[in-house]
Amino acid sequence: MTEHVLVDRAQGLLTLRLNRPEKKNALTRAMYAALADALEQAQEDAELRAVLIRGDAQCFTAGNDLNDFLRAASSGLDDSVMRFMQALFECRKPVVAAVAGPAVGIGTTLLLHCDLVYVSRDARLRMPFVNLGLCPEYGSSLLLPRLLGPVRAAQLLMLGEEFSGEQAAAWGIANEALDDGEATLARAEAMARRFLSLPPEALALTKRLMRDPDRETLRRVIRTEGEEFVRRLRSPEAFAAMSAFMQGKKA
Ligand code: COA
Repeated sequence: MTEHVLVDRAQGLLTLRLNRPEKKNALTRAMYAALADALEQAQEDAELRAVLIRGDAQCFTAGNDLNDFLRAASSGLDDSVMRFMQALFECRKPVVAAVAGPAVGIGTTLLLHCDLVYVSRDARLRMPFVNLGLCPEYGSSLLLPRLLGPVRAAQLLMLGEEFSGEQAAAWGIANEALDDGEATLARAEAMARRFLSLPPEALALTKRLMRDPDRETLRRVIRTEGEEFVRRLRSPEAFAAMSAFMQGKKA
């Protein structure tokens, strides 16, 4: 349990709201565990027909908490991150994401596993894995080159360049870019609610048919990326890059 993830189950919609605004919704172990628990329970709950993942109107998430990453260099990662990734990846119900403001690291890569994605035009998406001495995760090394082509994917994954919500929509990472954060949250919720009145079995089957052809390959890629990522977390390169970022914040 953590107050940093607000879980709401109402009228068939599971809403997972990231709620750590003072740290730009950076994800701690406890937050991953809360998200994983809610998604795992949703799988078994026939009353729940759709999932909405959101932050607030200013921020989606700054990605993994960098202090947790620094600690993981010595103590290792617990399984909460992987449990969350797996729960979202295996989710049979439709998942909608609402993204305003920063969406960093897993804040961007998790979108590749959602069914519908709404962004604010000025959202700031970024995957600075290399910049932090790390490597791509959550299937992004496979999914992004496929979606965007290898050269644009290299721009995002190798240089770690930021891109806007508007670009995300133009490139097919998001369905639509909205004028501001509030409009984005409203559109995402309205679209999630549209799933509630559709026949759930047909919906689940359609999602499965769309995703099954790649499932085994993706599982393998996610596992390999995860192993490399943990090795990178222990590397002097990553420690130096992440410490420099956190020191810069303190300075
Ligand atoms: N982990 C831990 N703390 C984080 C964090 C993260 N990933 N991202 C932001 N924070 C903290 C900052 O240290 C700061 O804390 P403080 O007020 O105690 O100093 C607070 O959140 C606000 O962040 P700040 O950087 O001042 O906000 P901003 O609006 O200028 O920038 C971001 C927002 C998200 C662009 C910027 O914080 C950022 O780049 N964060 C790091 C993202 C990252 O590298 N994530 C890991 C990806 S693998």
